[in-house]
Amino acid sequence: MQRFQNPHLTKPTKPNNVAFKYPIHSGYITGMNLEIAGNVQGFKQQDGALTIKTAEAEARVYIYSPTIIRVNISKNFNPDDTSFAVIRQPLADFDFDESSANIDIITSALKLSIQKSPLRFNFFTTDGISLSEDDSRFGTNWQGERVTCFRRLFEGERFIGLGEKTGNLDRRGAAYVNWNTDAPNYTPESDPLYKTFPFFIGLHSGLTYGLFLDNTHKSYFDFGASTDEETSWFGADGGDLNYYFFGAQGVAKIIEDYTWLTGRMEMPPLWSLGYQQCRWSYMSADEVLNIAQTFRKKQIPSDVMYCDIDYMDDFKIFTWNKKTFPKPKQLLGKLKAMNFKLVTIVDPGIKVEEGYKEYDEGIERDYFAKYPDGENYTGYVWPGRCHFPDFFREDVREWWGAAFKALTNPGVEGFWNDMNEPAAWGQNIPWIVKFGDKFMPEVRNAYGMQMARATYEGTRKILGNKRPFVLTRAAYSGTQRYSAVWTGDNTATDAHMLLGHRLVNSLGLTGMAFVGVDIGGFSGNPTPELMVRWNSLGTYIPMFRNHAIQGSKMREPWEWGEDNEQIIKKDIEQRYKLLPYLYSSFYQSTQTGLPVSRTLAIEHTADENIFDKRFQNEFMFGDAMLVVPVESTKLNEDIYLPKGSWYRLSSDQLYEGEQIVNVPAPLTDLPVFVKAGSIIPMQSVVQSTNDKGDGILQIHIWNGSEANSFVYYEDDGVSYDYEQGVYYKRVIRFDPVNKSISLSVVEGAFKSRFVQLKLVLHGFEGIKLNDEVIVNDNREIQVKL
Ligand code: GLC
Repeated sequence: MQRFQNPHLTKPTKPNNVAFKYPIHSGYITGMNLEIAGNVQGFKQQDGALTIKTAEAEARVYIYSPTIIRVNISKNFNPDDTSFAVIRQPLADFDFDESSANIDIITSALKLSIQKSPLRFNFFTTDGISLSEDDSRFGTNWQGERVTCFRRLFEGERFIGLGEKTGNLDRRGAAYVNWNTDAPNYTPESDPLYKTFPFFIGLHSGLTYGLFLDNTHKSYFDFGASTDEETSWFGADGGDLNYYFFGAQGVAKIIEDYTWLTGRMEMPPLWSLGYQQCRWSYMSADEVLNIAQTFRKKQIPSDVMYCDIDYMDDFKIFTWNKKTFPKPKQLLGKLKAMNFKLVTIVDPGIKVEEGYKEYDEGIERDYFAKYPDGENYTGYVWPGRCHFPDFFREDVREWWGAAFKALTNPGVEGFWNDMNEPAAWGQNIPWIVKFGDKFMPEVRNAYGMQMARATYEGTRKILGNKRPFVLTRAAYSGTQRYSAVWTGDNTATDAHMLLGHRLVNSLGLTGMAFVGVDIGGFSGNPTPELMVRWNSLGTYIPMFRNHAIQGSKMREPWEWGEDNEQIIKKDIEQRYKLLPYLYSSFYQSTQTGLPVSRTLAIEHTADENIFDKRFQNEFMFGDAMLVVPVESTKLNEDIYLPKGSWYRLSSDQLYEGEQIVNVPAPLTDLPVFVKAGSIIPMQSVVQSTNDKGDGILQIHIWNGSEANSFVYYEDDGVSYDYEQGVYYKRVIRFDPVNKSISLSVVEGAFKSRFVQLKLVLHGFEGIKLNDEVIVNDNREIQVKL
């Protein structure tokens, strides 16, 4: 066994002029030895795992697919080997080769070479190029319960991912903690925030790999932040060093594998892709209706109104305030008549109050988190003293899910899960609080996910064949199966607006395609310019929701003066025009896991410029559109266009890629570009997703030299009938060599809501179509250019 005495114990060193602080949760304080996984003493293959023993620990290796290998190293395996995130099973059997130095597992895509003395895990491509290696000195090691894995840091290695993390697109040189936290007033540097996605993608030597540490304890990732460029490392306060290694080449393929392993989102209700208007809080049913009516009167398209905490009676979950929301059914009926949906907030904290149904039932059935002596844990949140449901229990999740009838009976179909880190005033729920047999530190990071799961499963059951919309603030890997997320309490500044896109794009790398930010900034008041700019970006954010803190100025589109209202309206209209494209992009996410809003690092991984701080916020919205976030104070901007040719959406002006260009960026015209050869289906402006519109699907095509295709997808936007084949799908192809546009035969049993198809050409000088408008039947269509 190799043992190292922690050098800090014997000789604490304090670098000059640098504040030196011991980590509060650290084994350094109590003086623990460092144990490093040493030499292999024996191994065997059993139950789909290769089990390897050293004096300190045991490692188990599983193969999930040729590109996915799981390594789980532990001093003390938990026999209950379950995961909140992973939904797949490993292969039952696999081959390996043993030599005197190594045990090698070779798949068709990847080689894992397990070094025996001492135990180290090194991953290679099949032609022997190193993808990722344990650090030869420290490998996997323990300080008490805390486990860490040190890895070789490659020259020029970049790191992307980890979900909702501040900082730069390239995380090299930074360190992060996962500990789901209620983070009001967070800054563009704060860490941790609300969510935990311990999954990153490493990029070096023209290669890609991914690593998912499936461990819900407080966890740590250091991408060469303070290691003299020697190592990167990751670890957790407890539990196993349990990771999945992804060896596919290409960021998109790694995302596909990660979401194969942890699941993909299902089709969202179409209405949730429309414009959403929120506020903490619209204080009465009349106010909600009044706002909704104003949208309709002003013909500003919109689909969703929200009720924040004040719709409840004394903040008691699953109640309505009898004075201000006296007739919820009537409210929902009136909203429905105007084609509006309502989303209501729920927090986990159940008010301690005898006679309140959820409190009484929770006490009677013993559903709340506890101190070790059996007393229910009490913390303060909006309702005052609260108990917290143990969402890790199936019976509790069922109970919680069924309670939504109080909201679904009047007609609510959207459920906003907040404060589920979980938050309690003081933000320090004691570590001895237990959820079932687990202490809080072990499961905190998964609490919000389990609440969202309970909400999704319960409301899906109650709503029958209707799709619920679930939104959650806290999350763990795999949450995409249940819910959309938003990035919590941001602030009304340009820096937050830009950060928002990095958060959305980073969440997209970790399986979360349906993501929003509070447009306008939750805290503070945006300037009119910031509001206008942010709203124009909202068009290109997967979830488009305007939300603001209590006490802030009203935020609705008409609060910014007549001229600004017109700009805001036009940008919201643009969102509605793009819905056929957006819905198809969501369909793509359900099939491949690719996010809707995509960092350029997915497609242009090897292009240095896209990591440049000036350009790192640029993103692709679906396959075709490149969007450039520009601060509200700038009216033109240097932007970087990656490989390809690009048309400015607003003017069809053509730019060549791989260059920095300065472009105009007035508040009326956000720089948005379409890749040459792209196909974007659009519709005419409608006032809500339930509006029939003019029945014409416009198929816009921008000329280019390379053949391209787009999978158009449509279904009823409401039900799960698509799971039974009731959808409409066809491939639209543009072939510049044969000068043709074609639409394949329709797949699926759904009848499109568009009765006609109209081709709209951009950049095709001198070409005039004979049949601009075509009847949308199910046949194959060929159009010669
Ligand atoms: C939290 C949420 C915010 C909400 C508020 C009141 O701060 O993040 O969105 O408006 O609570 O419910």
